[in-house]
Amino acid sequence: SGMFTYDPGFTSTASCESSITYIDGDKGELLYRGYPIEQLAEKSHYLEVCYLLLNGSLPNKQEMDSFETMVTRHTMVHEQMHYFFRGFRRDAHPMATLVGVVGAMSAFYHDSTDVSDERQREIAAFRLIAKLPTIAAMAYKYSIGQPFVYPRNDLSYAANFLNMCFSVPAETYTVAPELARAMDRIMMLHADHEQNASTSTVRLAGSSGANPFACIAAGIACLWGPAHGGANQACLEMLRQIGSVDRIPEFIARAKDKNDPFRLMGFGHRVYKNFDPRAKVMKQSADEVLDLLGIHNNPTLQVAKELERIALEDEYFVSKKLYPNVDFYSGIILEAMGFPTSMFTPIFALSRTVGWIAQWKEMISDPTGKIGRPRQLYTGSPARDYVPVENR
Ligand code: CMC
Repeated sequence: SGMFTYDPGFTSTASCESSITYIDGDKGELLYRGYPIEQLAEKSHYLEVCYLLLNGSLPNKQEMDSFETMVTRHTMVHEQMHYFFRGFRRDAHPMATLVGVVGAMSAFYHDSTDVSDERQREIAAFRLIAKLPTIAAMAYKYSIGQPFVYPRNDLSYAANFLNMCFSVPAETYTVAPELARAMDRIMMLHADHEQNASTSTVRLAGSSGANPFACIAAGIACLWGPAHGGANQACLEMLRQIGSVDRIPEFIARAKDKNDPFRLMGFGHRVYKNFDPRAKVMKQSADEVLDLLGIHNNPTLQVAKELERIALEDEYFVSKKLYPNVDFYSGIILEAMGFPTSMFTPIFALSRTVGWIAQWKEMISDPTGKIGRPRQLYTGSPARDYVPVENR
């Protein structure tokens, strides 16, 4: 039946009204609450961007201070959660652990699962933003068999995360300010991206009145896929698989071959048909971090640079407007910092949590809000009579 508009992949359907993030894919423009991402990446910091996304305007000094206090008040997780972690296999992918633990937050913090109470919605938001780095770092520490490191509220949001990942009780560890800044920038660049697959998942889950922890867990599950947040891990693994510059043409040829499912990971975007503005900032950041760490002859990086150069000149990629996206460069920075590829998507998830919450809150307070309930075009059998098994 042709009763409904058919729009596979939602390429031309707006699912909501939103005043949070704006993307102009042709211009390569990304704005959070009207502010260009380039300016925020240079002049702002992650928690300020969180405030902006959640509240709609930049905070004054006092507003910023009290926001920061609220976040730091919630950075520790319930001690009982340590036992929950211990139920997982050590070799579990940290994203698998993250989906489980964040989902379980509604069991640990059931006092802030009442969606109808605005105050409780606020607290759930603070808890999620504050605890995601702690949970992601715990997932990492657990996977490498090291003790969990408690959060430190004297450090910035990004430095605290690096400290929880890389410090061990046996040694004094100091986070280099440049690395904390690079991590903070990665977080800002990933903070929101309007109605992408995981954000739409969070909204759809939330439209039924499900609690925010459950909704964010659903978003994390969606983000994991290689076409979405999982692309950062997939991209670095692809660069390693290519291995050396002379093998690039072979992989370019495969990406162009319609009979080969292989795609260049970290290339292409549903909305950006011009350079991904996040990729530009990320590229510069990658150069800075590698310089700082004195990494010059990294083979993965050489492959990345050459691949980018060849693809940007190739007729196939040019005509389809396939440019490097945010995931192309973020992996290079994270690898240089010492993260295993399995931590790339969890870092995306913890950075995007604020965007998911801002979008969830906007949806909850929308007076026209209805449960999300798509229709379908039915292609199955018409009505028919049941046949007993002996007559089939
Ligand atoms: N390598 C080779 N060909 C590609 C690629 C690629 N990375 N991306 C798109 N194409 C081709 C595709 O085969 C299609 O060709 P044709 O029109 O001849 O059938 C055309 O370009 C359009 O692609 P599409 O799949 O219809 O476009 P989409 O908007 O549905 O998909 C995408 C967007 C991001 C899923 C896709 O470009 C892709 O799979 N990229 C690789 C994965 C990736 O890097 N994802 C990260 C996205 S950025 C942020 C995030 O993490 O979410």
